[in-house]
Amino acid sequence: MKPALHAVEAVVPPPPYYAPAGHECALFEQAWKRRVPLLVKGPTGCGKTRFVAHMAAKLGLPLFTVSCHDDLTAADLTGRYLLKGGETVWVDGPLTRAVRQGGICYLDEVVEARKDVAVVLHPLADDRRVLPLERTGEELAAPPHFMLVVSYNPGYQSLLKTLKPSTRQRFAAIEFGFLPHDQEVAVVAAESGLSPERVAPLVTLATRLRKLKGHDLEEGVSTRLLVYCASLIAEGLPLRDAVLAAMIEPLTDDADVKAALIEVANAVIG
Ligand SMILES: Nc1ncnc2c1ncn2[C@@H]1O[C@H](COP(=O)(O)OP(=O)(O)O)[C@@H](O)[C@H]1O
Ligand SMILES: [Mg+2]
Repeated sequence: MKPALHAVEAVVPPPPYYAPAGHECALFEQAWKRRVPLLVKGPTGCGKTRFVAHMAAKLGLPLFTVSCHDDLTAADLTGRYLLKGGETVWVDGPLTRAVRQGGICYLDEVVEARKDVAVVLHPLADDRRVLPLERTGEELAAPPHFMLVVSYNPGYQSLLKTLKPSTRQRFAAIEFGFLPHDQEVAVVAAESGLSPERVAPLVTLATRLRKLKGHDLEEGVSTRLLVYCASLIAEGLPLRDAVLAAMIEPLTDDADVKAALIEVANAVIG
């Protein structure tokens, strides 16, 4: 007798924890359904990447993440011919894999990439939804469950590094900021395991330090740094050392600015 067939249930991990600030999850889902590409902008460490990872998992879509940098070219995204055992074979880049397979292609810090990247994104990010592969002569049509998501930080962009209107007007955009106090406390507590009572003064300090942005600081304390700080405290590092290591040193190399930040910290956390 043949053994009975058992249905094997795939164990799907829950989506990574994400605390919404507003209606961004619904907006993402609507954009996905209507095939509208999305631009997520906001300061570093405010939850952009976590949001995209959360939504990809929630919608059950594979996620292809590319962290863009100033050497990233269109060929890095689309693919190239490589020598393999004496033969040249075409190897898809992450964007091409995402278009062939369907899912979310997330280009993090897209303004960092080389200019030629815009050329491959344009026909993909408008109603054509195609990816021309010049080298292979193919023109791939994106399947319905393909979505392009890009993020960037408008805060520290120079004039040279900003998205051209022809690119940005191909995306619906959401602006991210830091969460309101109580919500940020909840997120940092959940991420670090430190109690909300002990996290609260750290968030108060972060809010004070964020107000200095633009004067002496290029960027304020991110939620990411708050999570680091709280995690170090939860691990036993004394409060002041953790604040110095995770909320002050990462912000500046300037001795005067650092002294000013320490003064603010002393006033807030005592
Ligand atoms: N809304 C949020 N929900 C859950 N975690 C968050 C949220 N915002 C920030 N975080 C925490 O901050 C960290 C940094 O967020 P991330 O998404 O990597 O920032 P970004 O991509 O904007 O630079 C995350 O790893 C997570 O611990
Ligand atoms: Mg990110």
